Amino acid sequence: MAFLADALQRIKPSATIAVTDKARALKAAGRNVIGLGAGEPDFDTPENIKQAAIKAIESGKAAKYTAVDGIPELKAAIAAKFKRENGLDYKPSQIIVGTGGKQVLFNALMASLNPGDEVIIPAPYWVSYPEIVALLGATPVSIVTTMENGFKLTAEQLEKAITPKTKWLIFNSPSNPTGAAYTREEVKALTDVLMKHPHVWMLTDDMYEHLVYDNFTFTTPAQVEPKLYERTLTLNGVSKAYCMTGWRIGYAGGPEPLIKAMAMLQSQSTSNPSAVAQWASVEALNGPQDFIEKHNKIFKERRDLIVSMLNQANGIQCPKPEGAFYVYPSCAGTIGKTAPSGKKLANDEDFVSELLEAEGVAVVHGSAFGAGPAFRISYATKTEDLEEAGRRIQRFCGNLK
Ligand SMILES: Cc1ncc(COP(=O)(O)O)c(C=O)c1O
Repeated sequence: MAFLADALQRIKPSATIAVTDKARALKAAGRNVIGLGAGEPDFDTPENIKQAAIKAIESGKAAKYTAVDGIPELKAAIAAKFKRENGLDYKPSQIIVGTGGKQVLFNALMASLNPGDEVIIPAPYWVSYPEIVALLGATPVSIVTTMENGFKLTAEQLEKAITPKTKWLIFNSPSNPTGAAYTREEVKALTDVLMKHPHVWMLTDDMYEHLVYDNFTFTTPAQVEPKLYERTLTLNGVSKAYCMTGWRIGYAGGPEPLIKAMAMLQSQSTSNPSAVAQWASVEALNGPQDFIEKHNKIFKERRDLIVSMLNQANGIQCPKPEGAFYVYPSCAGTIGKTAPSGKKLANDEDFVSELLEAEGVAVVHGSAFGAGPAFRISYATKTEDLEEAGRRIQRFCGNLK
């Protein structure tokens, strides 16, 4: 439509939301569908966090606009969290709170990118990274990682991708969509490369920090390489670990001039994030953290279950990732085969749509994340449903001709 902005030509809607919508529509039409598309915990927000929100409403604290970049109490809780968990010192003036990690990311990119700038994004990637970069007229430079390397970017790959136009490396560990998490040594190999290129900044998305298994130790780039602190934006939020996706609170710590610029943008768009959600997040960060471990025990069991079931399905190969609540199996062994409907599977998009059609299991095709043929399963879903989905995937793959 001629009326709409040219910038819209550069982006597409989120494939993960599209799958969730399609599964919802099939369910509404009476089909028995198991949705493994959504990237959010199936657990409810912990009770103490809900109570803090209720108290904020009843005391009138939530009634008014707050400071655009977050209430002082939340900034203090975030500063304490960065110190306690990451060994990072951020002053309140170096911290911004936004409406979800997504808004903070958007503001960071909008505040820093000019047309023609390049942003290095390891693939498979979270779908929003390249879309936001492209929307802003900059160039996403995708580097495809391999299953053999555990879906991790290598120092050589990074070195090769850097040009004089590179502005950011977007780094996400544990990763959406692969669950891959980088060890301290693996992070160091990448920060060593960035130390040789002082014009490249590090945007680290630590959203899944707390969701790691088998005693994996999470580290964040500015902690591993303190000399990179001055050009690192450390992004995080309460959505995933605290089961608060609906509350919409994300935050970042970084150099003051960048944070200030992000706050200015926010002041002209959404202003402060919801006051209720900010007070709830104070409790999330300052309150008891024991439920995280309890949830992680369940997530780990589910990961092990689904990885084992997928590896028993014909034509599927699934590595066991270190974190998040995703697995990213290859379906290369099914491509070229024929589904029960008679359709020949030409790519992973065919695989996921035939799987949904034949067995009512909704997953997201890997090509949406920039690397296929593969698909993403979110195992943040009831264990019985996950097990049933595993059986259906095995049956679907077994029936391919
Ligand atoms: C890697 C990653 N970063 C950031 C976000 C944004 O989280 P939110 O905006 O819900 O806080 C998500 C959500 O799916 C994610 O997967």
